[in-house]
Amino acid sequence: MNRQVKQAGAIGGTIRVPGDKSIAHRALILGSLARGEQIVEGLPDAADVKSTATCLRTLGCSVEELANDKIMISPGQWKSGVTIDAGNSGTTARLLSGLVAGLGLDCTIDGDDSLKRRPMERIAEPLRLMGAEITTAAGGCLPMRIRADGLEGIVYHPPMASAQVKSAVLLAGLNASGETTVVEKAPTRDHTELMLGAMGAKLSRRGDSITLSGGAPLEAVVVSVPGDISSAAFFMAAAAIVPGSEARLIHTGINPTRTGVLRVLQEMGARIALENQATTAGEPTADIIVRSGPLEGIVIDGGIIPSLIDELPLLAAVATRARGTTVVRGAEELRHKESDRIRCTVDNLSRLGAEIEELDDGFIIKGPCALRGAQVDSFGDHRIAMAMAVAGLVAKNATTVQDADAVDISYPDFFRDLDRLVD
Ligand code: S3P
Repeated sequence: MNRQVKQAGAIGGTIRVPGDKSIAHRALILGSLARGEQIVEGLPDAADVKSTATCLRTLGCSVEELANDKIMISPGQWKSGVTIDAGNSGTTARLLSGLVAGLGLDCTIDGDDSLKRRPMERIAEPLRLMGAEITTAAGGCLPMRIRADGLEGIVYHPPMASAQVKSAVLLAGLNASGETTVVEKAPTRDHTELMLGAMGAKLSRRGDSITLSGGAPLEAVVVSVPGDISSAAFFMAAAAIVPGSEARLIHTGINPTRTGVLRVLQEMGARIALENQATTAGEPTADIIVRSGPLEGIVIDGGIIPSLIDELPLLAAVATRARGTTVVRGAEELRHKESDRIRCTVDNLSRLGAEIEELDDGFIIKGPCALRGAQVDSFGDHRIAMAMAVAGLVAKNATTVQDADAVDISYPDFFRDLDRLVD
């Protein structure tokens, strides 16, 4: 399906974006290991989260829908010898790899064509060091077969900053003997650690190291999932670049490991305020109010990258409206997402008339440039579809986003909510 986005006048309004995808995956997966029944409310209607729920059911868990956005999960009888389908979801494939290895199941993990192109050796390597037997397909990709019979804790230094790798190792460590330590290259989202702590795991953080003791039981909790800042970011950016705009994103997660986008938009010149700050299940939340402002180009690199990795295509779109040069470096991980997000961002923004140069590990954008409507492609990637729709708001005439239903992966109602803000 194609979607058309027209150049917008000022945008304004209040939106509660769907629940945080990263937290939702973890609430389901950790619930499957807990004593008691874990209730998860505020779940997003996202295809990726449905993939996790389906995989857990295939593995033998009870996942019961209590309402549209509310699920109860409890352990069942684990099944060995099954194949699970993670669909498009890297988080599902990678976190569940750690889970099944720790449980000693024989399990094959598969996924769709996009996920089959993404690297899995980054998960297989530490799990092998812990004692699992793992085979991956050509190129270190899915399908991946995991067999294990008792793991041992390790000290692991992942070669890249990845919350998925960290979480997979910690999940395996829950049922490993001794202690499991992950030493991070740069801090990544810490939802796994926060939830493990809330559920009674023995876990500590010292500097860049997280250490978990195997064997401690987890207790079920009620998880109320806050709005996903990675979804709110599209409207934050829209309000930042369309002159005269104001958007209010209520009850949104503002975990500091995720708020790079907020800090960068602020530094570029958007006016941002936080109201009604609270904490839900250990996760900080707030209403985020964004007003447009004259934007300046900046350099985005180093330790901030993991906290805005999913927002970089969007920030590239924002940078086309900023005065001066914006440089993004140290973001080579973008090449391993649902699409090669460096190439796809450069390709699409060039079609819209942006002055953007591709780097191995990022891009350089010279702004401000007058964008003109064109046909852009989601490349089957939800975040590329939404980022280009936002760029379309400041492009002359109309922009067509091809294959726009890719948004279903994280935010099926994205275009409805965008229309509400634009009208
Ligand atoms: C995620 C971690 C990030 C992010 C992805 C979700 C998670 O991936 O890009 O959308 O929920 O742990 P990496 O761990 O590969 O950086």
